Amino acid sequence: MERYETFEYDVLVVGAGGSGLRAAIAAMEQGARVGMVSKSLLGKAHTVMAEGGVAAALGNVRPEDNWKVHFRDTLKGGGMLNNWKMVQNYAQEAPERVLELERWGAVFDRTPDGRINQRNFGGHFFPRLAHVGDRTGLEMIRTLQDQAVKMGVNVHMETTITRLLQEGSAVNGAFGFDRRSGKFLAFKAKAIVIATGGLGRIYKITSNSWECTGDGFALASMVGADLIDMEFIQFHPTGMIWPTGVMGILVTEGVRGEGGVLKNNQGKRFMFDNVPDRYKGEFAETEEEADRWLEGDREARRPPELLTRDVVARAIRMEVNEGRGSPHGGAYLDIASRRSADYIKKKLPSMYHQFMKLANLDITKEPMEVGPTSHYMMGGIKVDPDSQATTVPGLFAAGEVAGGLHGANRLGGNSLSDLLVFGRRAGLAAAEFASKKSSWSSLDDSEIAQCLSEALAPFSRAQGENPFAIMQDLRNSMQKNAGIMRVEDELNEQLDIIRKLKVRAHNAAAAGGREYNPGWHTALDLPLMLEVAEAVVLAAAARKESRGGHARLDYPEPDPAFAMVNHLVRRKQGVLAVETAPLPVMPGELKEIADAKGAVS
Ligand code: FUM
Repeated sequence: MERYETFEYDVLVVGAGGSGLRAAIAAMEQGARVGMVSKSLLGKAHTVMAEGGVAAALGNVRPEDNWKVHFRDTLKGGGMLNNWKMVQNYAQEAPERVLELERWGAVFDRTPDGRINQRNFGGHFFPRLAHVGDRTGLEMIRTLQDQAVKMGVNVHMETTITRLLQEGSAVNGAFGFDRRSGKFLAFKAKAIVIATGGLGRIYKITSNSWECTGDGFALASMVGADLIDMEFIQFHPTGMIWPTGVMGILVTEGVRGEGGVLKNNQGKRFMFDNVPDRYKGEFAETEEEADRWLEGDREARRPPELLTRDVVARAIRMEVNEGRGSPHGGAYLDIASRRSADYIKKKLPSMYHQFMKLANLDITKEPMEVGPTSHYMMGGIKVDPDSQATTVPGLFAAGEVAGGLHGANRLGGNSLSDLLVFGRRAGLAAAEFASKKSSWSSLDDSEIAQCLSEALAPFSRAQGENPFAIMQDLRNSMQKNAGIMRVEDELNEQLDIIRKLKVRAHNAAAAGGREYNPGWHTALDLPLMLEVAEAVVLAAAARKESRGGHARLDYPEPDPAFAMVNHLVRRKQGVLAVETAPLPVMPGELKEIADAKGAVS
């Protein structure tokens, strides 16, 4: 048999972004020996792309803010499909997790009286996003990484996991390879935390970096874990659309949070015409009122550019479809005419440099051209709301790869506090699970042999297909048939395409050696990307309504029949299928908070 090296950990954390690092820290605090696998380099996590801030009801800018208002806003933004217990845990714990980060050295922007500053973001009733200019995710990763390294985490960088290993139904390890050397690695683990982030790379236009190929969703699904709410993909309204080589790169919502406005090619602020019924009466009806709100008038209402992302993204798409788009097929995002150049450079330094370097455009002088970009998966691996345990014994999940918190649409800034709150909970629960096992179970030789044979197969297909062509076909077809606006025929067509792509992926070829071989890496990413794409499309076809990030042209309204229903995607006899599951019933006192208008005390 091909050689492989074996490592033993109490807790193996797969993924080294914010949730993985926070899980590792929590598990190490419990005395667990922790190994962490990073597909990329430590510190280069996709978390850094959550730029505008971390949401937590600290109440520093508006003392009326509290966990109840954050709880209500998160549920409302999520189309009420969220798991209420996760939202409660989240909203209550987020402030402490942010303060803890500050104690570990994170340097947030300050209010004039020296407290952590908080900015406005879509769907948040009060200014709630603690931030570091527009580099919040980066500061969080820097802080968490320092802490984890100081505590002695063992990091396997540039390592891809291709399979989770099992003893009976429980996980007992993972198999993968070092991307640099091509050497195979087996990990024995008493508990595993999946923290691999999102799946944006299954779409052509995405804010996600190359690692976000949906590995964790697929790895978990393949060992029998349930996936939940997979139809809900967030298309962030403002990605770069020009030049084409940088299409999809994020333009932070912080631009709108700092007063930026969206206009069509007639110079009209079209968001005033796009306030959905559930938000009627809550947003400014005139530009003058919106401006008064920005200047601090508490009687005025919020600008409609701060509606939730699902609403803003679809409004931009409608402007384009109806001929009012910008030259490259988006909308204009204008901060230049609203704030001074000094203010823009201070509060949005990355945006300033990003547009200068990538588009030769000075955002302090000209508007940006922006359009929707696939940004975030609201659904994911189904977890217990307290422990983050999945439906597979020994397997935990946290961060974007875990579903339930965000329902049908996530509020900006909620992802960064999600990964702090639930990364910690997953790490604690995994360490506790591991502590009950006195030793590691042996890995099954035949399972390892199977992993080796699958991993080496692309080298034996001399006449096989170029894996990049298969990946490109997947990304283009997902963009066209399962994107921001969906319709039955196209979803069905996409299922057919995915099934054909699976056959082609079985014939994907790699040439050359195993060291730094991107063709081989892509051939091994493909089965995971296709598994996760199929889960998205199956769930999208089953939800015959529009809600949150899932918009159906053939069912344009929310349907009460789907209001209390989550979709689970499960593997049965090797085949993925969708089932419905009723939402857990929310206790009366929380329902009152969820239904409250305005501030909640
Ligand atoms: O727009 C942004 O800065 C992204 C933040 C987020 O996705 O939470």
